[in-house]
Amino acid sequence: MKILVTGGTGYIGSHTAVSLIENGYGVVIVDNLSNSKESVVDKIREITGVKPVFYNADLLDKETLGAIVKREKPQSVIHFAGLKAVGESVAVPLKYYGNNVVGTINLLEAMAENGVGDFVFSSSATVYGKPASVPIREDFPLSATNPYGATKLMIEGILRDVHAADNTMNIAVLRYFNPVGAHKSGLIGENPNGIPNNLVPYMMQVAAEKLDFLRVFGDDYGTKDGTGVRDYIHVTDLAEGHVLALKKLEKKPGMVVYNLGTGIGYSVLEMIGTFSSVLGRDLPYKIVERRPGDIDECYADTALAEREIGFKAKKSLRDMFEDGWNFQLKN
Ligand code: NAD
Ligand code: UD1
Repeated sequence: MKILVTGGTGYIGSHTAVSLIENGYGVVIVDNLSNSKESVVDKIREITGVKPVFYNADLLDKETLGAIVKREKPQSVIHFAGLKAVGESVAVPLKYYGNNVVGTINLLEAMAENGVGDFVFSSSATVYGKPASVPIREDFPLSATNPYGATKLMIEGILRDVHAADNTMNIAVLRYFNPVGAHKSGLIGENPNGIPNNLVPYMMQVAAEKLDFLRVFGDDYGTKDGTGVRDYIHVTDLAEGHVLALKKLEKKPGMVVYNLGTGIGYSVLEMIGTFSSVLGRDLPYKIVERRPGDIDECYADTALAEREIGFKAKKSLRDMFEDGWNFQLKN
């Protein structure tokens, strides 16, 4: 069975391509390489022994996209391609609405024209806005606090409408919590351009002595030690979640929405403690003011995904740091 993976040379897409191949699926990647490199295709081959088909194409190029879907006739599509930098989305919102929303509409149209009915979408815990309580369940109210989050909310709404209009369209919306870590081999991982915004990539660069110290954004939150609490999930566990979601659509068509997280919240200081123990030295940090827009706590209620698709994250926080650091050292 052939799966079209948009954004498949990116961070989560490349790990999912590996899981798909290991589960016997054929993989066709479409990526415009705006935030990844073509060499990832060879890394996937090195890990799995199978080289995915690769198209350097933009989802905004409707004609090319249509021709690819027509030629490949995939059974399903997993849609990772999108822009994801929150700060940039505030500065250039139209770029985000254009790329993420229009790109998704083009993809759905190409699928409809070619009779492709199974769709898995990369959403985010950001759609819960500032949750009233934790752990967060899938039926909690949704809201957006920035244009990036607004694109995820809009796309989720579009998918609900598309499914209501055409129930041969089967859809799994996966809301990721905080993906971190890398494949055990150190061949693929997260390699952000410039200075990272997210916590773990920033910590990696401090450990590699590319940055002097970690700035801990606030220690006066209503959390166990005052620093922000998040649900970090190993990217290979997350990748497995996509295979389970696909199998669910194959067996029981419809529309489903699942949180993909571990259900455990770790504070920034706990993150520093675990990484320091992996490194065998202290990670330098300073407490600074809060980052605007940050929330106190965000972690998943994972019961629905566990019950309906048997998803349960297996890897520990230590695994996430060991594998992330291994990737950093090799790259
Ligand atoms: P990534 O940037 O590593 O991967 C996205 C890929 O999409 C890149 O390879 C990029 O080149 C490609 N792309 C972007 N626009 C495209 C277009 N118009 N046409 C073709 N290719 C295009 O990001 P990631 O971390 O792997 O995230 C994948 C998806 O998961 C994104 O939709 C993101 O919003 C979502 N997500 C990520 C996180 C996270 O923390 N990484 C959390 C929640 C949700
Ligand atoms: C951020 C995005 C969110 C996106 C998610 C996953 C913002 C406001 N939110 O969420 O929309 O879905 O990434 O990509 O950008 N921290 C530090 N120092 C740092 C970096 C982070 O202390 O240098 C803290 C933060 O305050 C937070 C935690 O670490 O408490 C995690 O931050 P981060 O990795 O950026 O993820 P989120 O804030 O969850």
